[in-house]
Amino acid sequence: MSNLVNSPAEKAHIIVSDLSERFARGWHCLGLSDQFRDGKPHTLEAFGTQLVVFEGEHSKKLNVLNAFCPHLGGNLGEGTVKGDNIACPFHDWRWAGDGKCAAIPYAKRVPPRARTQSFITCEENKQLFVWHDPEGNPPPTDVIIPRLEGAFSDGWTDWSWTTEAVNTNSRELVDNLVDVAHFFYIHGYGKGGGSTYFKNVFEGNFATQYLETGPQTEHSSYQKDATYTGDIGDLACMSRGETTYHGPSYLVSRLMVNFTGDDPVETYEILAHYPVNANKFVLHMGFITRKRADLDAEKNAARAAMVNEILRIGTLQDVAIWKTKARIDNPLLCDSDGPLYQLRRWYQQFFVDVAEIKPEMINRFEAETDTRHALPVWDQQAAEKIAQEAREAAENANA
Ligand code: FES
Ligand SMILES: [Fe+2]
Repeated sequence: MSNLVNSPAEKAHIIVSDLSERFARGWHCLGLSDQFRDGKPHTLEAFGTQLVVFEGEHSKKLNVLNAFCPHLGGNLGEGTVKGDNIACPFHDWRWAGDGKCAAIPYAKRVPPRARTQSFITCEENKQLFVWHDPEGNPPPTDVIIPRLEGAFSDGWTDWSWTTEAVNTNSRELVDNLVDVAHFFYIHGYGKGGGSTYFKNVFEGNFATQYLETGPQTEHSSYQKDATYTGDIGDLACMSRGETTYHGPSYLVSRLMVNFTGDDPVETYEILAHYPVNANKFVLHMGFITRKRADLDAEKNAARAAMVNEILRIGTLQDVAIWKTKARIDNPLLCDSDGPLYQLRRWYQQFFVDVAEIKPEMINRFEAETDTRHALPVWDQQAAEKIAQEAREAAENANA
């Protein structure tokens, strides 16, 4: 009611729309391929149903089917791999990886159109992906998972991989890509980590964040909003991130960090998720780190583990916030926040039919978020917090 506008009695109004059970169109990572290669069926809850993943005994192909058998609903995840098919535990119907019923041992003939739901899969970076599309179309040829050469190279560590179920809608995770201020308050513990450079670029299937903390590199040829191709030892910053969503759920973050000041580290962090339902997603956190040629295997592993653990804990700090926060469809933003509404507009393309994708969802959009005002404020807040902690430590020591 317009006569209530500016009324002191007016309350802040948080809009929360009903969550749709429609899940994003795109490639979704189910985990490292090897975890499914043990000859057994694996059940996963995803896309509001259950899936079964199994490896064909002869084909060695990883297949993904709806877990529920169309005969009488037996759960194929409780079944057995027989040859290249999965046998239902209930009446032994055999299902091939492409969804066709391959055999019914006790029947005279297989009903000619007997099929179950199968998913298109691909493997990349030693990970398994399924293609999900509510319209049932295959992936366009140019919608692919980017190949990370480090995942196949002896010059990099093997994947350090952990998985976490998170009880909220996946939009919370995606929102994080533009949230510049939380780096200081959440990941920097209110004592550091403020971004000295922060820029987002959205276009087509991709949404990117370029981020730096610490001193700025001042070569004239240095481009902050592009893939850095130089020696990471030449970077002046304490950390630099080039982070891109390839579609709705596969985030690749190339991180160049120098936490100790004399040992720059290059790591790829994967944050990949798939929805379980509208209020839950499974988050994979994976890391590979470029090895140092002058260190032995043990030292390289320890060095990578240290950096990876810091980054993994960082993601869990976000998870802790999501556990207690509200979903907000109309966030109230200030001039020093990143372009959240534009990011959500980009994300929306994956939840509508292809024919309904609007140009503003996929057109190029770029915005640098200016942190020059925030940085001295963060420095001040950090100094106060550090002083406060020192006082408390002294008091505890004297107690
Ligand atoms: S329910 Fe699967 S074979 Fe009968
Ligand atoms: Fe975060």
